Amino acid sequence: MITFLDYYQNRVELSFEDHPFSVHPLHVWVIAVYEGKWLLTHHKQRGYEFPGGKVEPGETAEEAAYREVMEETGGRIERLQYIGQYRVEGRGDTIIKNIYFAQIESLVPHLAVDETDGAYLLDDIPKRLDTNRQYSFMMKDRVLPETLRVLAERRLV
Ligand code: GTP
Repeated sequence: MITFLDYYQNRVELSFEDHPFSVHPLHVWVIAVYEGKWLLTHHKQRGYEFPGGKVEPGETAEEAAYREVMEETGGRIERLQYIGQYRVEGRGDTIIKNIYFAQIESLVPHLAVDETDGAYLLDDIPKRLDTNRQYSFMMKDRVLPETLRVLAERRLV
């Protein structure tokens, strides 16, 4: 378990064990790759980030991952793997989020949705995201580098 503060100074606990905080988390985040590139989305307010969001009533976390990736990027997931989970103690509420790794088989034209501008393909994730205004706060704490380290260790990227 790794503990740190996020971009907003909220306390985060991160683990790469099997669902350590909840078996039914209400949020998902998907580290996606398509044809050797990272697949992100551009959120109109937050900036560039990997796709994800809230699990809807009646949906599993995995189903939410498939849906959010399609809604936010137009990406069809070929293979989805659970990687880890984190808990953020926000000022109001505590959220628990599953982290997945997804291989994308195809990108279909993005249906216009309110919140994002669709797919954004990236060769390399920039090194200093904490000071990069184009990127979302979600990309600016230790969750991303620790997840990338685990993906590399597991030979997934
Ligand atoms: P909407 O209902 O979509 O407007 O959401 P919200 O802004 O209330 O956000 P949500 O319930 O998704 O998250 C609540 C708070 O948790 C956010 O304001 C963030 O501070 C925090 N949070 C959500 N997702 C993440 C994340 O991936 N990383 C970190 N560090 N904090 C997060």
